[in-house]
Amino acid sequence: MAITTVQVHLGPRAYPIHIGADLISRADLYAPHLQGASSIAMVTNTTVEPLYAQRVRAALAASGKRLIQIVLPDGEAYKNWETLNAIFEQLLRARADRATMLIALGGGVVGDMTGFAAACYMRGVPFIQIPTTLLAQVDASVGGKTGINHRLGKNMIGAFYQPSAVIADTRGLRTLPERERCAGLSEVIKTAAIADCVFFEWIEAQIEALRACDETAMIEAVRRACEIKARIVAADERERGMRALLNFGHTFGHAIEAGLGYGQWLHGEAVGCGMALAADLSVRLGHLDEAARARLARLLQAARLPVRAPALGADRYIDLMRSDKKANAGQIHCIVLKRLGEALMTPVSVADVKVCLEANGVSTSEQREYDPRIY
Ligand code: NAD
Ligand code: GLY
Repeated sequence: MAITTVQVHLGPRAYPIHIGADLISRADLYAPHLQGASSIAMVTNTTVEPLYAQRVRAALAASGKRLIQIVLPDGEAYKNWETLNAIFEQLLRARADRATMLIALGGGVVGDMTGFAAACYMRGVPFIQIPTTLLAQVDASVGGKTGINHRLGKNMIGAFYQPSAVIADTRGLRTLPERERCAGLSEVIKTAAIADCVFFEWIEAQIEALRACDETAMIEAVRRACEIKARIVAADERERGMRALLNFGHTFGHAIEAGLGYGQWLHGEAVGCGMALAADLSVRLGHLDEAARARLARLLQAARLPVRAPALGADRYIDLMRSDKKANAGQIHCIVLKRLGEALMTPVSVADVKVCLEANGVSTSEQREYDPRIY
């Protein structure tokens, strides 16, 4: 099966994203990045290690470099200081040095933490991303946002630190639970909704193939999403402007994740529902027509993503949205759609957010149990 490569054009920090089936076993993809490495430290987790680590180890063996393996507990709850410190502890004990190449083998949690460890360890060592979830292949592994959660906020501690390469093996997505694949589709739909109407139409036509993890469709989806993200990151690496558009659905989505408690809904599920709400807000503010909103909602539902907002209480949403990283002096900023394929960031009033939430059934301050699969 052919390999396709998308370049992230960032001058001295430029890197390739290799996309295709069975790529993790290919020694030739690692080799160019390992030439100056003294050793390799592969960071993975307890779920991914038994599935894929042996194949990566076999491919890395061709380099003849010493391999250190660090296996983390699985889960967003472990994306914190304690786990980061455990990575540093194991690197130091194994005498990893400034020329050690870190490799992140796993989903966005492993990728974000390994990237942050690479940014900090001995003031910066190189790292390679091997994203094994759809969400990580189309979003988390690309663009150099790394970090951990803080008790007071998600992804609040981190660094921009670009990898040396991304190796996205789409065949590995077959072992991903369907719910996780659908959560990844949310970020694929997001990318199309903000930047490429033709891609959006393509996803509409391919949604069943994508849900079934059809290889050809999956490679195409990852390629097109990565091309868009690579273009945006190359234009605005540090999110001073257009990169913020990648946060479409995230202002409501982060409020849902935090409001329900992290882990209740997957990140992609919260973003899916957040996009439905942000599209509704876009219509109310006069930016988007109703037909486009309904089309987005239909596609989200076809991807088995929740579109009804959990009734956390409008005041709780507003509170949480005010602590979003895009908020400025308490002013909420939201990404809204002008049409399918074009977005903009705009300040929004509390009153407009309240009207939108209330129209979407969020009026009480009570929290109940919310299963995203019935939303
Ligand atoms: P995740 O890393 O928790 O992975 C989801 C689950 O799938 C985990 O249990 C994992 O062990 C398992 N898994 C991974 N690959 C598998 C495979 N091939 N087969 C079977 N199981 C597999 O979650 P995620 O959705 O990949 O990432 C979410 C994280 O990414 C969040 O912390 C979010 O903040 C972060 N994120 C970062 C960025 C960024 O730009 N850095 C962008 C989006 C999201
Ligand atoms: N996930 C949004 C970004 O990378 O900017």
